[in-house]
Formats: sequence, C-alpha cells, structure tokens
Amino acid sequence: MEQFDYRRMAFYQIWIRSFADGNGDGIGDLYGVYDKLDYIASLGVDGIWFSPIYPSPNADYGYDISDYRNIHPDYGTLEQFRRVLDRAHSLGLRVIMDLVINHTSDEHPWFLESRKSRANPYSDYYIWRDPKWKGETRLPPNNWFSQFEGLAWEYCPERVQYYLHVFAKKQPDLNMDNPRVREEVKSIMRFWLDMGVDGFREDVITFISKHPQLPDGLPFLPVINGMPFYKDGPNLMTYLREFRAVALEYGAVQIGEAPMTPVKTAVNYLTGKDRVLDMMIQFDTMMADCFMTEYIHHPFSLPKLKRAFTKWQNALAGTGWNALYLENHDHPRVISRYGSEQFWRESGTMLAAAYLFQRGTPFIYQGQELGMTNIRLGSIEEYQDVATINTYHSFRRRQPEQKRLKHVHIASRDSARTPVQWSGEENAGFSPVKPWFAVNPNYREINAEKEEGDPESILNFYRRCLRLRKGSDTLLWGDYREYFPLHPQLYVYERSYGTERILVVCSFSGKELSWQLPGGYAWEGSALLLCNYREAPRRGLLRPYETQVLRWNTNP
Ligand code: NOJ
Ligand code: CA
Repeated sequence: MEQFDYRRMAFYQIWIRSFADGNGDGIGDLYGVYDKLDYIASLGVDGIWFSPIYPSPNADYGYDISDYRNIHPDYGTLEQFRRVLDRAHSLGLRVIMDLVINHTSDEHPWFLESRKSRANPYSDYYIWRDPKWKGETRLPPNNWFSQFEGLAWEYCPERVQYYLHVFAKKQPDLNMDNPRVREEVKSIMRFWLDMGVDGFREDVITFISKHPQLPDGLPFLPVINGMPFYKDGPNLMTYLREFRAVALEYGAVQIGEAPMTPVKTAVNYLTGKDRVLDMMIQFDTMMADCFMTEYIHHPFSLPKLKRAFTKWQNALAGTGWNALYLENHDHPRVISRYGSEQFWRESGTMLAAAYLFQRGTPFIYQGQELGMTNIRLGSIEEYQDVATINTYHSFRRRQPEQKRLKHVHIASRDSARTPVQWSGEENAGFSPVKPWFAVNPNYREINAEKEEGDPESILNFYRRCLRLRKGSDTLLWGDYREYFPLHPQLYVYERSYGTERILVVCSFSGKELSWQLPGGYAWEGSALLLCNYREAPRRGLLRPYETQVLRWNTNP
C-alpha cells in the first residue's frame, strides 16, 4: 500500500503519564488525551506519536513493556484507545505508536518463561550467556556497562546464566537473532496496524542486532563501552527489511530512534527506494551543551548546534528526509538548555523558528509549545526516572550532594516529564488531585490557558510557524543553506525553491546584535513573513533572541 505523505506533516509527541488526567486519579490517561484532541489539532500538527501506553511495571515508564497488545490500566482500555484513534483520525491526525522491541520488561511472560530453564520454548528469546569463571569467582560474560544501571548483565540462578540488559535490569534485551522473536515483532506490528494505527516510532532500533561474540568493550569507557558491539550491528539491515515489508503492506511510516548513529551510517537506512526507515531520531542536535550525555555538561555552543543541524540537512538533501526535533521525553527542556529562562518568550519562539523551517518533518513534544522549562527539585528522592537516580548515585560519586543535584537540574529527563501546565489553577489544571509527579512551580506564569489569550505567546507562535510551513513550497521542499556557520550567536539559514528564497534569522544572544545580509542579498524586495517581536524589526539589528523570517521573490 502506498505511504501517506509524512513529509508535509508535523507530529506532536505525547508522554501520556504527564499529559492530561481525565479520570481524576493524578495520572495522565487516554481520557485526558481524548479531551485534548481538539487542542492538538488546533496547533496545526497532523499526527501524534504516543510514547508507550502499554502495560508496564514502569521501571522505565513504559519502555519496559509487559504486554504488547494492551493498554496500561492507568491509561485506560483498548476500547478507549480505539475511541482516541477514531477521533484523532476524524480530526485529520495520524497516530503512531512506540515500538519497543530491543527489550521487554522482566515481567513480560516471555521472560518469566525464559528465565525458568535452558529448555523451554522461550529460553532463546533473550540473550543468555554462561558466566566467566576466575577460579571460584563468577564473573559476567563481558565487561559491558548498561546505560542505566551498573553492569549490563544480571545473574539468574535458575539458569546458572546471565542475561543482557543494555538498559535497566528490568529491561532484558531480546534475542533478535532468533527468528521466532522477529515473528513476534511482526505480529505485534500487525496487531496495531490492523487496528488502524499509522506507523511506529521504533525505540533504539539500531541496537537490535548484537555482535555474535559479544566481545569486551574498552574498560575505561563508562556506560557506553559495549556500544560498538550492539549498535548498527551485523544483521540490522536484514531485520529492518523484514519489519519494513510488514509496514509497507499497510503504508505505515517508520521513524527509527538511533542514538549515536553517525550520519554516514544513517544514510544506509534512510535513502533509496529500498530504505528501511523513513526518518531517524538522531542525537547530534542534542549535544550542543554536552558530550555524549547531558550529564557531561559544557556551556551551550551555537556553532556546535549549527554544525549538527547542517550536517543532517546536507546529508539527506535530495535523498532522504529528516525528523526535526528539539525536545522529547529523554531530554531536558530546550529553553533551559539552548535558550534563556530570562528571555523566556523570546527564546522559546526563536527556537521554534530555528528548527521548524528546516527541511524535514517537525516533532513537537508536549509542553514545548508552551515553553515549559526545567524543574529543580530539592532532593534526589523527589525524582522518578531510573536513569536520573542511578546516574546521581554512581556517575559522580565523589561530588558533594549539592553539586550532584545541580547536574540533575541541568540534565535530568524528568524535566520533560512534569505534568503539562494547562492552566494557573491548582495542579496546573492537569488533574483535580495531587499529580503523580511534581508540577513545575512556574505553572501560574507558563500555562496553556494564559497563552491561548495572548497573540504573542509561544503557543500562538508555534501555530503561526506551522501554518507558514504548511503553506509554503519553499519551506516544505526547498534547498537548505547555512550562512555564517562560525558566528557564535547568530544562526541564519536559507530555504530556496524556484524563484523564492526565505531566510530564517535567529539570534541566540540576550543582547542586541547587529548583523548583515549574506552576500547576494539586498533589503530591497524583502518581505517579513514572521517575527517574534510585536514592534517592527530594524534592518541589521536583532533584539535579544529575536527571530525574523524574510522572503525574497525574484519573480513575484
Ligand atoms: C529510548 C527511549 O526514548 C527512552 O525513554 C528509553 O529509556 C530507552 N530508549 C530504553 O527503552
Ligand atoms: Ca488518570
């Protein structure tokens, strides 16, 4: 079946637990989602990506699935999901699900069986290995670290073996080399596609094929030392082709998450008629204030961000398609990182223009369109995320508590997981009762209700941007070119199509900034399409975090 044109679309990501509580128990759910579908459609997006909403013990809030064919009771029922799906479709919104198949929960029935013995129908569903013995001492099969929780191996006395978990202990990695596991994946895909969902965001999909020998990684590298042996592995293409065939039967779209996959490798997945993925969630644009992980922080560097943007734009020019994003449930809030909480409205709107007009399909994470910012909780006990908590306890063990907490304030994924701020009422209008997780205390200033009424708000600016993008062939299809790549505070990019050229000019400075049009441009004939200040802009001068979108047409 032919695919729908995802390239014209924009997606809104829902991390349901913190989106909207519809039945008043303090936890976001599908009743809340149903009530907010009109709001989502009003943004001008065309689809929703649901982070996992399946049954899960929540060791990693849904990314540890214990039943692939159901809805977590906290969030509703399959019936309610169907209602959401139907209504979303009737509003013109496509729906894509998170497909998490690198691992399951250790409470998934497959794993419960698998761990029982070496001889049962599920024994080979996971990656089991014998211990290494050093004299009497039992050691794990190799020296890999898990990304979330100590070593990547957990011992199981019943089997006298270890199982691999690249993420938390409660997330055992599936053995994708087992053809039966791949059949399970395909059948799960069909289950949701038969129901009418429109595609999948595929969790760490580039990790599913492991090096057959599972060799030791470099001992001095923490956390990611096994990555060269589980990322972009030898059979990845083969497996992705199998899944692709199922998706294409339904015309479904596939967006692969690919931490640390370099652009050179990515083009193999993303280009050509036989591509195995339509878009990729790359991580380069998340690294402008850190090294490998947000916990290794350095001051924000605009040139680094621009290099990442432009690298992906150029690599896929004419041959592939980008997924554009600045936030999701795995990263702190972008205003607190790349913008300025002091120039909150200005930087929140500028950042929208900095990425929404690039060539690709934009993803907007819940609350991003409101300009939600990082939360700073007083102690580690108040945090919820397994990665945050374990990193706090291990990564910088020798540092004093206040310093470690400061890292958490900068880096935690929990900043993206506070309840969405719908109004200035109690609990930010998210729920009538105390929510499952802390509400950011700034909800009286930053909330949807307040921003609805303000034409200059971040919320309404997102709407304007999405409308402009959708109505412009140049912004949808035009070539991308960057100017002044080394400028530390200015990001200028051009989109050109036929006789039209559009310049997107973004200041990342909290002070006034003078600038000049790039060579070949003149102010005559320019038209201002968009600006994030109400008062008219001045030529050659940008106010703090100002953005201007300018258009030229040589053949008006
Ligand atoms: C990527 C997901 O986005 C993240 O939230 C999760 O913790 C890991 N994959 C493991 O599933
Ligand atoms: Ca609820």
